[in-house]
Amino acid sequence: MDSKVTLSVIKADVGGLVGHSSIHQDLLEEAGNRLDGAKHQEKIIDYHVTACGDDLALIMTHRKGADNKEIHQFAWEVFEACAETAKNLGLYGAGQDLLSDAFSGTIRGMGPGLAEMEFEERESEPVLVFLADKTSAGAWNLPLYKAFADPFNTAGLIISPSLHDGFKFEVHDVKGHKKIVFDSPEEIYDLLVFIGAPSQYMVKAIYTKKDEIAAATSTERLSLTAGKYVGKDDPVYISRSQGAFPAVGELLEPFTRAQLVEGWMRGSHTGPLMPVAVREANPSRFDGPPRVICLGFQLTGGHLIGPRDMFDDPSFDLARQECNKLADHMRRHGPFEPHRLPMEEMEYTTMPQVMKRLEQRWKPL
Ligand code: 13P
Ligand code: 13P
Ligand code: MG
Ligand code: MG
Repeated sequence: MDSKVTLSVIKADVGGLVGHSSIHQDLLEEAGNRLDGAKHQEKIIDYHVTACGDDLALIMTHRKGADNKEIHQFAWEVFEACAETAKNLGLYGAGQDLLSDAFSGTIRGMGPGLAEMEFEERESEPVLVFLADKTSAGAWNLPLYKAFADPFNTAGLIISPSLHDGFKFEVHDVKGHKKIVFDSPEEIYDLLVFIGAPSQYMVKAIYTKKDEIAAATSTERLSLTAGKYVGKDDPVYISRSQGAFPAVGELLEPFTRAQLVEGWMRGSHTGPLMPVAVREANPSRFDGPPRVICLGFQLTGGHLIGPRDMFDDPSFDLARQECNKLADHMRRHGPFEPHRLPMEEMEYTTMPQVMKRLEQRWKPL
């Protein structure tokens, strides 16, 4: 058996309570029962089921590697079962993110988001799982840059010999379907040219200079997969911590300042990403503002010891307050940019249908 452990986080919106604001307990129970069964059958080593807003997240460990067909198929079946439960309860958008009728070898490109990494477990292996709702894949670019490349955020880049060499950023162009790897700190200005435009360029993974996996994100863009608006991507990001990686507090520190992201109401607005405890991840004001939660685990023999609810800490109160102030300010703009997303991004919402009706009425100048 492979000695390496794989951490797989696979998430999907399979129905909201009420509207897009939260999840029904029955979905968490349905998923939990199925993952418990898989644990007893030794298909997976351990699991934790949670939700951020209306997005159901399956956090699983196993020894089958990333992109494993059996694990992906299993996750797909769990989501299908939960979508059925959601349908029976009449939940909103039941099966929203399940874009295919049948499983086809990988869950990639089928609607759910996923972040996976396989590694040799250290003597002590702290890992963090970040989950967001009402925002897009790409929302992690800024926090990843700060945690892994900015010494004003991460003291270890300066004072720890194990971080002093910096990291490698694997960046995907999700519209051009290509990827590139940048060295940090050597190439941070080049890196920022691209990841400063997070709707197209996304940090997919981060490695140490010795090629050890440090972090992985979901980059699935639902609208690009579906060819129409079906909801926001609501992405996930996982990271290892301590030792050769940023400390837990260095990974959390980027979320102490309100960051503006795309998403919020109808996936069409810019708003602040608010770090909250799991119990507070129920976005209701204007279907938001966007939320991020973080669960911490010690991974031990593949088992998930924890979780700790990392943003359940008064030291994030000011960040939340700043988010609420910014939310007010952005809301004042109503349907105007920059609260409403720029036209290019509105193409991936329901607005093109409205514009189509007026096509003939436009006369040349
Ligand atoms: P400890 O001394 O508590 O292990 O902390 C070290 C550290 O890295 C804090 O971020
Ligand atoms: P979700 O992407 O979380 O389903 O939200 C969609 C939406 O339209 C919120 O207003
Ligand atoms: Mg939804
Ligand atoms: Mg959602």
